[in-house]
Amino acid sequence: MLTIDIISLLPELLTSPFDHSIIKRARQKNLLQVNVIDLREYGVGKHRQLDDYQYGGGAGMVMMIEPLFNCINDLKSKNQYDAIVYLTPDGKTLNQGIANHFSTFNKILFICGHYKGIDHRVRDHLITHEISIGDFVLSGGETAAIIMVDAIGRLLPGVLNNESSALSDSFQDNLLAPPVYSRPAEFNGWKVPEVLLSGHDAKIEEWRTNQSLERTKELRPDLLEDE
Ligand code: ADE
Repeated sequence: MLTIDIISLLPELLTSPFDHSIIKRARQKNLLQVNVIDLREYGVGKHRQLDDYQYGGGAGMVMMIEPLFNCINDLKSKNQYDAIVYLTPDGKTLNQGIANHFSTFNKILFICGHYKGIDHRVRDHLITHEISIGDFVLSGGETAAIIMVDAIGRLLPGVLNNESSALSDSFQDNLLAPPVYSRPAEFNGWKVPEVLLSGHDAKIEEWRTNQSLERTKELRPDLLEDE
């Protein structure tokens, strides 16, 4: 069982995304548990303040250290985390390898940032990983957390019906997946490639491998260079 805790100041954003499809099934099968922690409960003072102006001046607020410190320590006193992850555009870019690695963990804590980000001392002293989901800026880390839970959760053994289906995903072997087709064999004059109808397993396998390579060369040559 993988437990993922998510610290958020917008917990409402994280209510429905895990209630559908494969991630819902993973939770129902007790292979995945997702807990959302409302940072507001750790806010400072009567107004439960979470953000403040940045030292040195400049536009944009910063998420204060105190609520995050108290929240993370509270969770750490009850859980032993394999990773405490800050979701941030300047983190390491998420890829299938990172998702695979995280799917081997037992407990992960995600921290969703807002505004200009979190007080850097949290990053220096409390965080073990920093992950970005791509070179663009989101208005908060919650949508990144949803993507991380999805990418990791579907890889947990027993979540997908057909164990091999995660292995044939794009990126699993640094290649894009081959095209897939279903009935009818001809629609609107558009035909399914003949080989797929042949029933010849070895030829089909060869065609798929070839398509994977060709598509990767054409669309994502960078994946081949990484090898
Ligand atoms: N928060 C804001 N932008 C982000 C990104 N690209 N990845 C992860 N977290 C983020």
